[in-house]
Amino acid sequence: MTWNTPAGLSAGARTGPMQADLNEALDQSGVWRFRELLPILDNFGNAVSLREGNTPMYHMTRAAKALGIDQLFAKHQGMNPTGSFKDTGMTAAMSVAKAWGFECVACASTGNTSASMAAYAARAGLRCLVLIPEGKIAWGKLSQAMDFGAVTCQLKADFDGCLRLLSQIVNEAPIYLLNSVNPYRLEGQKTPAFEIAEAFDWTVPDHLIVPGGNLGNSSALGKGFREMLELGLVARMPKISVIQAAGANPLVRSFREHQAASLEPVEAHTRATAIRIGNPASWRKAVRAIQETGGWCLDVTEAEIAIAKAEIGAEGLGCEPASAVTLAGLKKLRAEGKVASGETVVLLLTGHSLKDADYTIDFHRGTLLKEEETTGREAEIAALRRDAMAVEATPAAVLAALKGSAQ
Ligand code: F0G
Repeated sequence: MTWNTPAGLSAGARTGPMQADLNEALDQSGVWRFRELLPILDNFGNAVSLREGNTPMYHMTRAAKALGIDQLFAKHQGMNPTGSFKDTGMTAAMSVAKAWGFECVACASTGNTSASMAAYAARAGLRCLVLIPEGKIAWGKLSQAMDFGAVTCQLKADFDGCLRLLSQIVNEAPIYLLNSVNPYRLEGQKTPAFEIAEAFDWTVPDHLIVPGGNLGNSSALGKGFREMLELGLVARMPKISVIQAAGANPLVRSFREHQAASLEPVEAHTRATAIRIGNPASWRKAVRAIQETGGWCLDVTEAEIAIAKAEIGAEGLGCEPASAVTLAGLKKLRAEGKVASGETVVLLLTGHSLKDADYTIDFHRGTLLKEEETTGREAEIAALRRDAMAVEATPAAVLAALKGSAQ
């Protein structure tokens, strides 16, 4: 079965062997296998897929033990085709772009959306324009946009500025906007909620913890669980908590200072560049997801993010910095008594660890954090660091290094 070949996949071909082939192909995607719940396409022959979704759920044994919560899991959305959760939304929205006959798609991005959009646009045969904040996205993500053939513009603006500019551009030219304000993105991005419920045999975990940037993802997952509840597929929704970086925390401030009734943009700063966003587009929908499920919204420091990321690495899973806010946030929630030991908790890891290898290397070399950021946590950080050692090329030297590292 080949994908994205219009031949034989026309609207009329709803029965017979071709339809069977199409169904088989759609069923291999963790998004399109839920197509009855996605009011997106009249003709599924337009689906542009890289076999996204169907991501693994891992038991986080070490973190579970350290936190005294037995049932702690990571749903690893970094195991998608382009290495981030964006693929589940992108397959949906790119399919719509193709079905509607657009020739060019565009997004502003902190990196992952652009990597994902570039890949799906290439599969669909569409041109693609990427606006990114200069010097503020991880190389792994930029390299993907280049590799997949995007027209990439690095702007002297932050993410919020890039998005503002793009909103003007799409008003003037027939370009389809693929940021998460696009409703079809959220349709695709709600499907991990279905997979989580499926993994728990259509019960739901007590608590789902998600990083917050532009806040499309928390909104989409809330929608997914809400729809399952309305359909009677599950009996309740999990608490959905959103965690932001302390330097990019407009939603946290909104809860703290305005009871989430209004949001004041902030100038965002964090090394977790994926969530370096000061004016999140989907904040109202995220507030709804948090409030209707009884979840929390809190922020974590740069040191807390770096430590949590190293701990997720030490589990053999790894993730990018923005994803690690989930574990850092859980630690805080646990310390504040907001998560009980008997609860089932799922962390949504949004991006693959190779997306931002520089961050990881800087952490292990001890050059990531400034002294004032690590005060009081030096021992904790030292215990996690695993810098590469320069060792003489002899068995004795290598064995000595191994022995030394065990002490
Ligand atoms: N984690 C990662 C790895 C991300 O790339 C993003 C967002 C988020 C979390 C936050 O998700 O925006 O739905 O709240 N990245 C966007 C991008 C903004 O352009 O790649 P959100």
